[in-house]
Amino acid sequence: MDYKKYIAERLTENGISYGEIYGAIAVPPDSAMGDYALPCFKFAKVLRKSPVVIAQDIASRFPCGGAISGVQAVNGYVNFTVNKTALAEEILQTVLSQGKNYGSSDEGAGKTVCIDYSSVNIAKPFHIGHLSTTAIGGALYKIYKFCGYNVVGINHLGDYGTQFGKLICAYKHWGDRATVEKGGIHAINDLYVRFNSEADEGMEKEAREYFRLIESGDKEANELFDWFKELTLKYVDGIYKKLNVTFDSYNGERFYSDKMQPVIDELKEKGLLKESEGAQIVDLEPYGMPPCLILRSDGASLYATRDLAAAQYRKDTYNFDKCLYVVAYQQNLHFKQIFKVLELMGKPWAKDMVHVAYGMVSLEDGAMSTRKGKVVWLEDVINKCIEKAGSVIEQKNPDLENKEEVAEKVGVGAVIFGALYNNKIKDIVFSYDKVLSFDGETSVYVQYTCARAKSVTDKGGVPQSYTVGELTSQEAEVVKTLAAFPAAVADAAKNYEPSYVARYAVDLAQKFNKFYFDCKILTAEGGKKDFRLALTAATLQTLTNALTLLGIGVPDKM
Ligand code: ARG
Repeated sequence: MDYKKYIAERLTENGISYGEIYGAIAVPPDSAMGDYALPCFKFAKVLRKSPVVIAQDIASRFPCGGAISGVQAVNGYVNFTVNKTALAEEILQTVLSQGKNYGSSDEGAGKTVCIDYSSVNIAKPFHIGHLSTTAIGGALYKIYKFCGYNVVGINHLGDYGTQFGKLICAYKHWGDRATVEKGGIHAINDLYVRFNSEADEGMEKEAREYFRLIESGDKEANELFDWFKELTLKYVDGIYKKLNVTFDSYNGERFYSDKMQPVIDELKEKGLLKESEGAQIVDLEPYGMPPCLILRSDGASLYATRDLAAAQYRKDTYNFDKCLYVVAYQQNLHFKQIFKVLELMGKPWAKDMVHVAYGMVSLEDGAMSTRKGKVVWLEDVINKCIEKAGSVIEQKNPDLENKEEVAEKVGVGAVIFGALYNNKIKDIVFSYDKVLSFDGETSVYVQYTCARAKSVTDKGGVPQSYTVGELTSQEAEVVKTLAAFPAAVADAAKNYEPSYVARYAVDLAQKFNKFYFDCKILTAEGGKKDFRLALTAATLQTLTNALTLLGIGVPDKM
């Protein structure tokens, strides 16, 4: 039920338009002030009356009964109280009949969103810094699908550049097949690290030659490169499976090797390309930015050149309505430059490009700091969380069946939720104890609430019919929060903020637990039992939908 609409439709005879009233209605921070409020200050001028008088006027004429049970004028505001019984009837029916689709919409029907996320670099293992893009991008992918969009998940692989020449050179000098087969990506990374600390002038020269060989299609160089790529993809695939994320395309930077020339030609044609110290650039000084480098003086293309080609390719291939880049804020300038260049090229769709920036992740002991030379691999963080979850479960519920499966859901959930819970632009300090706390603002807390609700409905069943009647304040809070889920999902999509869904889940879990501890469910009297069971089932469904959107599993028992 759209209450704003309901209220606004009943208020148009006051000389103010429907749209103005609809837009002005807000949800007061404190529900003691009603469920919706209309501030009348804006209308004073047009109506030539004081806001206090206008509010009183509106309140006295509003038809109560139906969806709105009470109206009150207070200091220039009209406060509306929702009929909770009617709302409960409607919401329970909606949640229980829509099931796993509750909260979805067709808002995005016919529209396409490309989401560039995770975008790993070949031969580099995932460190904890890659967690956010993977978790946030993965959640946005699911959220946009839930809102009816056609979504294209793109892993813009970092598979182009001189570092691969270095890697081949290092392998040729120090590596062997067996060690790399066995050690996988970490063995490759070791070779790369060794090159950077030990390579002399001669090896640097060789490395440049190997890079040239990759570029010119040399068989051996390309076989090695493809092998490194295969090992990387196998490795990241394991992590993606754990984190429940998927991609529709792995077209990385190399894919654009033959797609850059047309973009360069177009830049030239449009008079945007300038020479500067032998390099080709687009001057962005008028826009307060350093130039966007397109070709180096040796003719080599750059990260930006490939991103321009990729943007054009995505528009041509998917005809997106929006193209998102879930990339750390360190690349703010890069994306501002790319978007500006596209705009200067006269692409009307430049305005549809969005850099979804996020902050840094570090561990409590500062372990991410590269200055100290300590790198934290993402798989270690995930495994440690699963392990810790396992020992907590062992303590709390030693007789639980399939403990391992539960530990995995809890551990992985904690990692994802830890990366998602805060507003994405904030830097986060990852703490194992915090993300795994049973009574914090955590996924474990939400999962535990789900298990609690499940055990109630397992015992009492989910009734087909029930009478709602007068609600207690705890019941009313749960009902109101259930009703707010579709809006939380829509806002998350609109603001590129999966944290809205995460926070919503914690909020609903808290409201439900208050209800659970204050009100009897299975032993309720006066015909309340069935309604409370239905309310419990609807909460479980909604929490499950919220966690699923974030890529987090829900154990039946904990
Ligand atoms: N591979 C890059 C990095 O690790 C991220 C790529 C992001 N996507 C893009 N289209 N530039 O920094």
